[in-house]
Order: sequence, then structure tokens, then C-alpha cells
Amino acid sequence: MIQACLFDLDGVIVDTAKYHFQAWRKLANDLGFDFTPEQNEMLKGVSRIESLKLILDIGGVSKTEQEILELAEKKNEDYLHFVNQMDQKEILPGVESFIQDLRANHIKIVLGSASKNAVKILEKIKLIGLFDAIIDGTKTTRSKPDPQVFLMGAKAVEIPNEFCVVFEDAPKGVQAAQAANMYAVGVGEAQVLSHADQVIEGFDGLDYGFIKSISVKA
Ligand code: BG6
Ligand code: MG
Repeated sequence: MIQACLFDLDGVIVDTAKYHFQAWRKLANDLGFDFTPEQNEMLKGVSRIESLKLILDIGGVSKTEQEILELAEKKNEDYLHFVNQMDQKEILPGVESFIQDLRANHIKIVLGSASKNAVKILEKIKLIGLFDAIIDGTKTTRSKPDPQVFLMGAKAVEIPNEFCVVFEDAPKGVQAAQAANMYAVGVGEAQVLSHADQVIEGFDGLDYGFIKSISVKA
């Protein structure tokens, strides 16, 4: 039986992808090239530095490791400008009541995000108290599709991997969940998340019954 649910943050609990995109596009434009919404799709779930390296490749721009760190810092300042204006209105529909119902049914709730800004965002939207464990980009060393973030999450709440469900909006996150031997629920479009065990459009109307209906192999 499922005993823990692991949630990605960006694109699952809040729609911060649009803010990441605006900050990355500004960085690309400042460097003299454009960065499109389609190219942004590839960056979902990818860490800040790896995202920057992919963007520099797109622009055909080469930078030293020191310059890369400085550019990443600058992008994060621009991104935080948006984050600082966030509030509870930015929580995606249905996810808060879903998590509350899971908690009422003794399911452990874990955050599994690549973001180093996760705690700040959860505080801004006032959901931080709902999590039994938070594994974010300040704790991991390997980016999704590596399963590290989810393996650490399951360990933190002492639940075997096969009794965990992951909610992810990024194909790389779905891959990470499956590499961790967890049940992967894709949140978003079925074509984009075709490798997920199940795809949902969003959390509206979902409750503990959804989790109860998942049968795991173990
Ligand atoms: C992931 C996002 O959750 O976090 C990526 O999908 C982002 O787009 C990554 O690059 C790192 O985020 P941050 O907040 O540490 O720059
Ligand atoms: Mg995401």
C-alpha cells in the first residue's frame, strides 16, 4: 500500500516555470540571443547551473566556470524578484486540499525538487508546514533524471521506495521516479509525459481515494 507521496515543486505545486523562463530569456537577450518557450521545456527539472550551460550552448556562447557562476547568480536575482511577489494565490488548483486529505489519511508528504529556492517558495505560499521532509537542490548533488532526490526523500520518511508515489510535471522527473522504483504520476499533458505510470491534468477533485486505487508491485 502507498505510504508516501513525493511532490515536485515547480510546475506541480506552483507555476514558477513562467518566472524561470522570463529570467532565463532576459539573460539570453542580454548575451545577444533569444531563448524560446519551446527551448524552455527542456529545462524543466534541470538544476540552475545545468540549465545555464544548456542555454549557453543554444546561444553558442562560451564562458569560464567563474563567469557561469556569476551569470547563474544574476539569473537567480531576477528570478527572486518574481518569487518575492508570490503568495498563496499561486498555489495550483486542488493541490493543497489533496495534500491535506493525504495527511489526514497518514500518508507521508515529501518535497522532491531541484530548486535551491524551494524553502523560500514554500514559505511564501505558506505550505511549508504540510511537509514531513523537504529534499531540494541544497541537499542533492545529482540532477533529475538521476533518482537521488526521490531516494533521499523516501529515506527521510523511512518508507520503502516501492510504497512511494511521485507527482512530476517534467519527463526527466518521471524518469527519476521510475529509476527510484516509485510509481510516477505525470501532472500535465499525456503526450509530453507518455512514460508516466498515469497522467493527470491537475489536482482538482483528487483525494485520498486516488492514492488508494494505486496498486504497487511489492
Ligand atoms: C526545477 C525547475 O524545479 O528547479 C528548473 O524545474 C530549475 O527549471 C531548477 O532550473 C533549479 O531551480 P533554482 O530555483 O534552484 O534556480
Ligand atoms: Mg517541475
